Amino acid sequence: MKSAAEIRILTTPQELSEAAAEEVVRDANEAVKARGRFTIALSGGSTPKNLFNLLATNARNALPWDRMYFFWGDERHVPPTDPDSNYRMADEVMLSKVPVPPGNVFRMAAENPDAARVAEDYEKTLRKFFQLTPGDVPQFDLILLGMGPDGHTASLFPGTAALQEKSRLVVSNWVEKLKTNRLSFTLPVLNGARCVAFLVSGTDKAGVLKTVLEENASGEQYPAKLVNPSAGKLIWFLDRAAASSLSK
Ligand code: 6PG
Repeated sequence: MKSAAEIRILTTPQELSEAAAEEVVRDANEAVKARGRFTIALSGGSTPKNLFNLLATNARNALPWDRMYFFWGDERHVPPTDPDSNYRMADEVMLSKVPVPPGNVFRMAAENPDAARVAEDYEKTLRKFFQLTPGDVPQFDLILLGMGPDGHTASLFPGTAALQEKSRLVVSNWVEKLKTNRLSFTLPVLNGARCVAFLVSGTDKAGVLKTVLEENASGEQYPAKLVNPSAGKLIWFLDRAAASSLSK
């Protein structure tokens, strides 16, 4: 039976990041105790930056870095040196500052001009790491997600082809409004996680968050609505600004 989403409203962006950091620490130590490793897919954009900083500083000594395995739920189609690279941000703020073995970090090779190949190769990486048989879906311990003002999450944008993907794990997704390909996990991967944690901050997200959480809108138009782990936890970490339009 799918459990209801947990909505956690924190007063400030800092408190949102602190609450999310506590969740990462809890999940990581539980996973390592139960299964000997912790697999996490990071989100991109700006919201998680402070969380990553907290993990590398305040929470540093509470995390089993050598048993943690890092992936990305989506990536821009740019080299890892590009200011837009989700990998670059996570590496600068966190991974370069903590004792995680380099072999535990699985970056999408988004410098390859052939975006479809990048997606295929990353899918192979997932299948190998999780030792998947055909038709299997990886079960990440934790997938971090953000949400754009248009209701997109990862790089699953409204009206894009990736929303229909039911068998591939990673795809290159053309995003017309950005005039670019984006690399993204597909919904089966997001919904296969043990835990999905959205981090949503700021008044610019308030309207779309109400639509996603409280209104009977189309997932095609608001892809974040389509994320609901079939057998896992779904937690929304919100600050007051983002939650300001919610009725509850
Ligand atoms: C990306 C993200 C994307 C992001 C949202 C929110 O690659 O941009 O994965 O899904 O989470 O766009 O971005 P902000 O946190 O910057 O608002």
